[in-house]
Amino acid sequence: MKKILVTGGLGYIGSHTVVELQSAGYDVVIIDNLENSTKGVKDRITTISGCPVELVVGDVNDEITIDRLFKEHDFYGVIHFAAYKAVGESVDNPIKYYKNNIGGLISLLGAMNKYGVQNLIFSSSCTVYGVAEDLPVTEHTPIKSAESPYGTTKIIGEEIIRDYAKHKEIKTVLLRYFNPVGAHPSAQIGELPNGVPSNLVPYITQTAAGIREQLVIHGNDYNTSDGTCIRDYIHVVDLAKAHVKAMAFADRMTDCVDVFNVGTGQGSTVLEVVQAFKKQCNFDLNYTIGPRRAGDVEKIFADTQKISSVLEWQAKYDINDMMYHAWMWQKTLAKK
Ligand code: UD1
Repeated sequence: MKKILVTGGLGYIGSHTVVELQSAGYDVVIIDNLENSTKGVKDRITTISGCPVELVVGDVNDEITIDRLFKEHDFYGVIHFAAYKAVGESVDNPIKYYKNNIGGLISLLGAMNKYGVQNLIFSSSCTVYGVAEDLPVTEHTPIKSAESPYGTTKIIGEEIIRDYAKHKEIKTVLLRYFNPVGAHPSAQIGELPNGVPSNLVPYITQTAAGIREQLVIHGNDYNTSDGTCIRDYIHVVDLAKAHVKAMAFADRMTDCVDVFNVGTGQGSTVLEVVQAFKKQCNFDLNYTIGPRRAGDVEKIFADTQKISSVLEWQAKYDINDMMYHAWMWQKTLAKK
């Protein structure tokens, strides 16, 4: 059985990916510092997959812990999720983001080199494209300077990996996520936002649950069909499956580094997302239109031809499924 180290494996995308890796026959070890997750997720992963998973509570930045982990296990590959991802917080505290997101990657690369582990999957983001001139964005769309320190850590992370690969034996798949939403259909795992969510879908479900009073839509004067921003929302289970495909691809990679967009290829406006939620969940959501949010891109969605032809991956879930599963998960949270 091939053993995979999943950093941040109790987090939102990490936990769904662990389930899919186990279903595909991989053995998984998680390292997670519990900063944005809880230990209970480990048991819920096992409930879904029926497979045990080893958890090491620790930080990827702690080189002693990482060294011990690599000494104890013979890893086939690493999937690196452990990073901060709040755009607003990164603007307030850039150093925190540089230290954690870049430091964590460097510490992992060092251990992979020392112990001869070659395969890495790195969580990147469509944020690297900034305001793209042509849509949909392909993997060749130029990378822009980022709007936030969070985005900068993704661009620098990609750059470090490309540079490192020129000098050391490594095979890395960079996955550029569009907007991951939804939850596992079992409603056992999902997103656990800390405090007031800044992302759209947790804000919608928390408003429907009565935790937030009203959703504020950030602007309806954009150049789109209904004036609200367009994003490519991707179901977290589909995204998790893309990681399994990327890990299998490592063996047949011809270049040391390859990059894939992970989206549905379908853009939805904020109002379309709200409508899908209302329809799927039979809910009249309380919302209002507010001013534009600083730093928001008007529209972005993915060209998915490369991932579909090379990794043979396609999204299965649509926006209606995403809303329904996000709502089922919110109901699970309400019971806890
Ligand atoms: C941002 C980041 C992305 C990151 C993601 C997760 C950028 C350009 N994008 O995505 O890289 O992976 O966060 O942290 O940096 N909206 C509302 N009301 C709300 C919340 C959101 O109208 O209360 C709107 C936004 O204006 C936007 C859309 O919903 O048009 C999606 O917003 P959000 O979920 O925050 O994701 P992004 O900003 O696209």
